[in-house]
Amino acid sequence: MIERLNHVAIVVPDLNVASILYRDALGANVSEAVELPAHGVSVVFVELNNSKLELIHPLGPDSPVAKFLQDNQAGGVHHICYEVRDIFSARDVLQAKGMRVLGDGEPKEGAHGKPVLFLHPKDFCGTLIELEQI
Ligand code: CO
Repeated sequence: MIERLNHVAIVVPDLNVASILYRDALGANVSEAVELPAHGVSVVFVELNNSKLELIHPLGPDSPVAKFLQDNQAGGVHHICYEVRDIFSARDVLQAKGMRVLGDGEPKEGAHGKPVLFLHPKDFCGTLIELEQI
């Protein structure tokens, strides 16, 4: 079902500091910060040869990552995203196995304009998993 690792999302307390760290200390290719109001986050995309990172910071008071940052003030890994070919079939298979899909279970448009779903971390070893249809 899952195929390539699409990205790892890391919540950071300061996008500028994180960008400089990834660009200057680690020598990675980082984007400008992009505001995604529909998702309540600002994102810096980091391109690696074999995958991507997303450095994310809360945007606005209702941001879905605001509490995470409160609980993890130095930042931390927020979720990992795997690619799937058919998100509806992936959802149905997982739900049939008793796995919990967050929200109303319907795929939403993700940060890359493709349909995504999130899976409950308690069903997956304490890790929030995003599935993205490629
Ligand atoms: Co993501």
